[in-house]
Amino acid sequence: MRQYILFVLFFFVLFSFSFLKKKEFVFIENIPWPKPIHNYTQTPNYEAKFQLGRSLFYDPLLSADSTISCSSCHLSFTGFAHVDHSLSHGINGQIGNRNAPALINLAWSPSFHWDGMFSSLESQSLNPIESPIEMNMPISKLEKTLNLKNNYKTMFYNAFGDSVIDKEKILNSLAVFVSALVSKNSKYDKVMRKDKGVSFTDQENRGYKIFQIACASCHQEPLFTNHSFKRNGLLVDSALNDLGRYNVTNNPKDSLLFKVPTLRNIQYTFPYMHDGRFMRLKEVIKHYSNLSFKNIELSKELRKMKALGEHEQKDLLSFLYTLSDKEFLFDKRFQFQR
Ligand code: HEC
Ligand code: HEC
Repeated sequence: MRQYILFVLFFFVLFSFSFLKKKEFVFIENIPWPKPIHNYTQTPNYEAKFQLGRSLFYDPLLSADSTISCSSCHLSFTGFAHVDHSLSHGINGQIGNRNAPALINLAWSPSFHWDGMFSSLESQSLNPIESPIEMNMPISKLEKTLNLKNNYKTMFYNAFGDSVIDKEKILNSLAVFVSALVSKNSKYDKVMRKDKGVSFTDQENRGYKIFQIACASCHQEPLFTNHSFKRNGLLVDSALNDLGRYNVTNNPKDSLLFKVPTLRNIQYTFPYMHDGRFMRLKEVIKHYSNLSFKNIELSKELRKMKALGEHEQKDLLSFLYTLSDKEFLFDKRFQFQR
């Protein structure tokens, strides 16, 4: 009998493993998450690369006049979004044409920027460095600048076993840092993994149900994005005239589609949308609450969206607040260090 049970158990375990492998799930504290796409944790000297990437992220030396760092537009306390700025501000007070998105769980993102222009974190980070309206620093000049700094020579040596600083190493270490910005300790996560003493209030529960019906098809759990490009009913901003995904594909079908952003820490990442048109989360919910009046083309997931009453809007808001992760927002590891 015992042998029989062991035999069954053995095949059960074998079966579960093969199932997991097929589905490409990894477990973060017992909750299945998809496998990260940009995973650097196994690279040699990971910790040294992470620390180097963090130093570069916070260093204004990366800009032409040493005034702008990545963190000027991506602030840790606001989920690495550019709080209060609808459009980002770069070098010499120049204003960009899009809202700086939060940098959260990007290791899982197949593409970057609102239109998905970049598919790797390395190629992405070259863009703000060289952009004339962001940091305006030709990468060859940055290589020269950093090669004159002894502290950086040491850090690059520790990270790459070579103190010659070049473009690939700079971009790679920035990618290692950005990919480490993982948020997975919100109240939502604690409820999902059944942490002791944590549960949704009645209102949050009602909000969660509304969310699952109305929002989760695009803002898919647990990352709160399905990483696709969609149209969510915003009227075109005639000043910016941003065609979104079309800029990348030149396919008319992609006109006005934008990347579905994560909703993690959404309480803190205002203003919202690719052009930062909404200052408050309430306004976003209002926008979704009466889409039918807007008479605008919508992605199919939203075509049947029912109007939400005032109470339902409040319930939904209270659920969205459960996605705030203070441990992430105030994590010292992600902040500037001397
Ligand atoms: C002047 C403000 C500014 C600076 C400086 C800046 N960024 Fe950004 N960042 C933005 C904006 C705006 C976007 C969105 C661009 C778009 O969609 O066209 C963005 C997008 C990103 C994204 C893609 C996020 C996503 O969800 O698609 C990453 C990653 C990123 N920035 C990292 C960095 C790094 C690393 C640096 C420093 C090397 C940096 N940024 C410097 C404003 C800035
Ligand atoms: C059809 C897919 C789709 C559905 C369904 C959907 N959204 Fe969105 N959502 C998007 C897209 C795309 C954007 C970005 C649009 C842009 O900036 O042009 C967005 C942006 C947002 C933002 C702003 C995020 C930021 O960082 O700026 C919030 C908040 C949001 N959605 C909440 C919701 C809520 C709440 C629901 C349910 C009522 C919902 N969404 C349903 C596609 C969707």
